[in-house]
Amino acid sequence: MFYDADALQIIGNWKWGEPLTIKQGFLETKGQDSLVLGIETSCDETAASVVRGGREVLSNIIASQVDLHRLYGGVVPEIASRKHIELIMPVIDLALKEAGASLQNIDAIAVTYGPGLVGALLVGLSAAKAMALALECPLVGINHIEGHIYANFLEYPELEPPLVCLTVSGGHTDLLYIDTFGHYDILGRTRDDAAGEAFDKIARVLGLNYPGGPEIARLARSGDPKAIDFPRGLIQADTYDFSFSGLKTAAINYVHNMEQRGEDLPIADIAASLQAAIVDVLVTKTVAAAKAYGVQTVLLSGGVAANEALRRELSAVANALGMRVYYPSPVLCTDNAAMIACAGYYRYRRGERSPWDLNAAPNLRLGEV
Ligand code: KG4
Ligand code: ZN
Repeated sequence: MFYDADALQIIGNWKWGEPLTIKQGFLETKGQDSLVLGIETSCDETAASVVRGGREVLSNIIASQVDLHRLYGGVVPEIASRKHIELIMPVIDLALKEAGASLQNIDAIAVTYGPGLVGALLVGLSAAKAMALALECPLVGINHIEGHIYANFLEYPELEPPLVCLTVSGGHTDLLYIDTFGHYDILGRTRDDAAGEAFDKIARVLGLNYPGGPEIARLARSGDPKAIDFPRGLIQADTYDFSFSGLKTAAINYVHNMEQRGEDLPIADIAASLQAAIVDVLVTKTVAAAKAYGVQTVLLSGGVAANEALRRELSAVANALGMRVYYPSPVLCTDNAAMIACAGYYRYRRGERSPWDLNAAPNLRLGEV
């Protein structure tokens, strides 16, 4: 026996293996001011947040493990899982405390169940399930990428489909057409590295710290974006897909050649040229998609959406065509639980509930259940 049947009986009169009788509390949907507890542990941030009415962020606690993983030059999955286990309950406690709420006040629990690192996802998901079961409170599983998109709705509740959204993070580069809330047409995605991954991998070759994106953005400010003509993968191709592996190889070769010749690396120029190449491709494809779909509103989301050059360039090109561009504040671009609570609120209000056997889905894609 791996479980204590008596203990389980106390929580909801349920015995292992028996179908669970769902009580009324699990199905009830409270009003517009519902409090949703969001939980996010898909990668190296342990995060919890309480959001009221889908837009009022009462707390947004993010315990970052970045300093720990920096020692290894990237995220070590096993270390991430262990750290999440240590941090998950203190982070949730703090989120509740800062929101002035107790678990009993929470109307629904929203949790990321994919995509991400399986061991990391399981920590947040197990905590969420245990609390939802004990509190007889609805559980709503959220796709991490959908969470990133909803960071925009947190800050701009007036946003309405149709929209084109570019989601760019360490693991994803997806160009989406959103015709109604919760429905996503994937127009294009990366065929190899994600945009954030390209930033991080090239930064590593340059000897910069993890995560590389913010480091490259910082150095790029004093560099010349035209100094090196790095390749812009698939920019002319008749597709909304992306490819960053050619850029990565070109940057690595450039650095190795200079090192072999014993020359000093023009780090700021490399950073600026690299950022320009990535931004150029992202902006060109996103604006082309918005034009083709006759969309006036363009969203940016995901960690790379914190990049100032991307925000500036996309706004400039799209505004010139009469389109409006929205992006979340930097703290809501990178991983956080407020965006998960926000996405959870809308799904909860639509009556969606996740089953108790909801499992971590490391390769979950948008639109999949
Ligand atoms: O969304 P996120 O926090 O985690 C994932 O879901 O992957 O994104 C992290 C990624 C990293 O690759 C990081 O280098 C990149 O976002 N990033 C940036 C910037 N801030 C974070 N990339 C470019 N410029 C930035 N300012
Ligand atoms: Zn993310």
